Amino acid sequence: MSKEQTVFITGAGRGIGMAIAETLAADGYDLILNYRKEQGKSAANLQRFVASTRNVNVRLARGDISEPRDIQEMMKKLRADGVERIDHLVLNAASAPFKHFMEMTRNDWKLLFNTNLSGNVTCVQEIVPLMPKGSTICAISSLGSRRVLAKYPLGIAKSALENLVSYLEVELYDRDIRVNGVCAGIVDTDMAPFLQELWPQMHQRYENQPRRWLLEPREVADIAAFLISPRSRALRGTSIVADLGMLLEA
Ligand SMILES: NC(=O)c1ccc[n+]([C@@H]2O[C@H](COP(=O)([O-])OP(=O)(O)OC[C@H]3O[C@@H](n4cnc5c(N)ncnc54)[C@H](OP(=O)(O)O)[C@@H]3O)[C@@H](O)[C@H]2O)c1
Repeated sequence: MSKEQTVFITGAGRGIGMAIAETLAADGYDLILNYRKEQGKSAANLQRFVASTRNVNVRLARGDISEPRDIQEMMKKLRADGVERIDHLVLNAASAPFKHFMEMTRNDWKLLFNTNLSGNVTCVQEIVPLMPKGSTICAISSLGSRRVLAKYPLGIAKSALENLVSYLEVELYDRDIRVNGVCAGIVDTDMAPFLQELWPQMHQRYENQPRRWLLEPREVADIAAFLISPRSRALRGTSIVADLGMLLEA
């Protein structure tokens, strides 16, 4: 049964975003699922998701979050389509070059910040006016925010995103909008084989330890579901680390 609350998820077509959509649909939230391109895996996954979801209302919203005009256009279409209220926003989409800092070009910096920082801020600016009291924002971050990983400039954008979580919490407090984040360890998505090649030593090290270290997308989704629910009402402006304890042992 629908909870009559709507969640907007960016980059929902695959990986963690799709897992969050599946989890929240099962919990009875109506969904607005953002995706970037009309063609390709995400668009196809989302068409299947819409066709197979019965219990809640699902809308798709195409928009490249690195382009402010795309976000504005997407929101204009949603409003024209009758969307007047969004209760929760999950900032999940991310995209970045995997390069050493010495190799970063101006275009790489633009992609990094336009998508992962100013893109997220534009989503917040556009969606907050539709949020009633008691709404939440949840940002998906990664361990690169607090550990140095080779060829991972996304890590510094994630540090900024986690800091943004705290700043937004303070700025949006008067509107009764609660802002938190999940800082996830390594998650088994399309990125996993690529990250294994990018960080072979880290992969080898953790593979040879008894502790499970690769998260399932659903495990991150469960934390996002908790953060948008009133059960997490004591959490404000913080990012929860969910890494299966991989960083505990030196
Ligand atoms: N995988 C991990 O190990 C891991 C660990 C910690 C945190 N995270 C974080 O979790 C989130 C999801 O990660 P993931 O592994 O599921 O990533 P992924 O498989 O690479 O998916 C990223 C999603 O973001 C979308 N996206 C990228 N740029 C976009 C843009 N400009 N506008 C709209 N959508 C855009 C992608 O759409 P397309 O399908 O069009 O490319 C895709 O749906 C990210 O914030 C990531 O940093 C991941």
